[in-house]
Amino acid sequence: MNKKLTLMAIDAMNHSYSPYSLKKVGCVIELSSGDIVQGCNVENSSYGATICAERTAVLRAVAEFGPHIKIGRVVVATDDSPPWSPCGLCRQVLNEFATADMELSRVNPQGEEITHKFKDLFPHGFDRSALMSP
Ligand code: THU
Repeated sequence: MNKKLTLMAIDAMNHSYSPYSLKKVGCVIELSSGDIVQGCNVENSSYGATICAERTAVLRAVAEFGPHIKIGRVVVATDDSPPWSPCGLCRQVLNEFATADMELSRVNPQGEEITHKFKDLFPHGFDRSALMSP
């Protein structure tokens, strides 16, 4: 795995706003352009308004680089063993901008790392093709 991306994902955890769960999550997405964007979870006293690290990173990427971004690689960092897997909402949002062979790695500061093909994490997902049918 890419050491730089792992360190950046772990670094992103330190920006987490998580006073309710006390669970810090960091995410790094590397775009096909080579640009790298970090995200962290941002919780809210109205719990349902919480935004996960992965979605923070994707929304930042769109806001910064525009609507045509493609994600080449994702690294998610948590301080748990095994490192957390992304929630369903985040899988759906990542899928919107995923490249066909996108990989997602789960890491923690202890050096554990589990890498998946994103397609294995999100098979048969809903996507724009359903909306394009006649
Ligand atoms: N969380 C993430 O940031 N990403 C996930 O994929 C799973 C959950 C956050 C949301 C909340 O702030 C905390 O982890 C506990 O659920």
